[in-house]
Amino acid sequence: MSNKISAPRGTADVLPAESWKWQTVERIARRLADLYHFAEIRTPIFEHTELFHRGVGEASDIVNKEMYTFEDRGGRSITLRPEGTAGVVRAAIEHSLIGQEGARAKVYYFGPNFRYERPQAGRLRIHHQFGVEAFGSAEPEQDVECILLQMDFYRQCGLQGLALRVNTLGDRESKQKYREGLVKILSPIASKLSEESQRRLGENPLRILDSKDPRDVEAIASVAMPASSEFLSDTARAHWDAVLQLLAMADLKFNVDGKLVRGFDYYTNTLWEVTAENLGAQNALGGGGRYDNLAEQLGARPTPGVGFGSGIERLLLALEGQGVALPNPAPKLVWIASQGEAAQSHAFRLMAEIRAAGIAADMDPAGRSFKSQFKIADREKASFCVVLGESEIANKQVTLKDLATGEQSILPQDQLIARLKELTSSKV
Ligand code: HAM
Repeated sequence: MSNKISAPRGTADVLPAESWKWQTVERIARRLADLYHFAEIRTPIFEHTELFHRGVGEASDIVNKEMYTFEDRGGRSITLRPEGTAGVVRAAIEHSLIGQEGARAKVYYFGPNFRYERPQAGRLRIHHQFGVEAFGSAEPEQDVECILLQMDFYRQCGLQGLALRVNTLGDRESKQKYREGLVKILSPIASKLSEESQRRLGENPLRILDSKDPRDVEAIASVAMPASSEFLSDTARAHWDAVLQLLAMADLKFNVDGKLVRGFDYYTNTLWEVTAENLGAQNALGGGGRYDNLAEQLGARPTPGVGFGSGIERLLLALEGQGVALPNPAPKLVWIASQGEAAQSHAFRLMAEIRAAGIAADMDPAGRSFKSQFKIADREKASFCVVLGESEIANKQVTLKDLATGEQSILPQDQLIARLKELTSSKV
């Protein structure tokens, strides 16, 4: 079968045996977003390439190396979104969710993102994120609300062994000072850096701290790197102190990591990342931060913003690694087994009635023996089996079998739906 087509490298199919886990995680996320008063936003999975150049940053690795960019048939440069924030800010500006003095908007999203990265465990070319963005509040409470929501999400999914690292880059002025500080420290050892980081030293020195190149890691370790918080302006320091105080009050375990910069140019002030201890090299479950200059960079009036993105694939990997059993929301299924032509058409009608009563039902109409129909019911993980044979039809009865206990009873057909309602409504 040499001409078989397989999925592109770095992509994954979510098969029926796994999709319920995605639904469960999504349900938990949606419920939490409701509780924290965030409303869903859905934006296109492709945008004008320029949005990411201006939003994510010309000198970031994502824009430089990882974007799926193509020209469409109309000659426009289009990019499959590598992350959610830029598109959400674009939409918020375009539809005036922000832009008015004092406007606030709190939104959340689910969806795929596309990055041309080298695939490995936990790193895909299409990954999915649950993310939130809060616009219009520059207050430290808004940063901490996002962090609390993210941590609540993991807690409700049942994850353990998490580490929350937080840092600040400060405002524009502080960030510029930090950049200059880095250049001053790194310039004397520039020859020890990778070629790419030598180039970054001029363009975007913060990105050097993200580098995984062993030469960069070693060079950075060889000098006393300053923490970004050493360069804060008074305003940025006041914000940062308040964030730390609120976090401490929230009874959250966290560490301040003065070298955490994350891979996007849009961050200002607070930023954070959550890692799971059982994920190996790709251990970042999710991260976020404040981006108070992004709206302005995209042509709107300055509007503060803060949010996070959390990878769903990595979350599921971490849950699996920790042996956490997510609740399966699948409804109890009734299987209808019948024998003989008359019984089969009767069964088909009965199935419609059961479904109309809000109970999940299915059958195999291939006219197999009862024995093989029971086997199929088992394989499909049905909870109950309704058996319709010649004698049942003649007596206007059905045999109802509980497939978990093996218990069996005969009851009048007109009592079946009520009985099934009782049996399937019991909470697991
Ligand atoms: P990010 O850190 O690039 O942030 O991505 C967030 C999460 O998405 C990561 O922590 C990781 O779990 C997952 N992720 C990223 N890339 C991959 C990949 N190649 N394969 C599998 N999972 C991946 C952002 O995207 C920002 N937009 C977050 C944000 C929102 N900041 C403010 N608002």
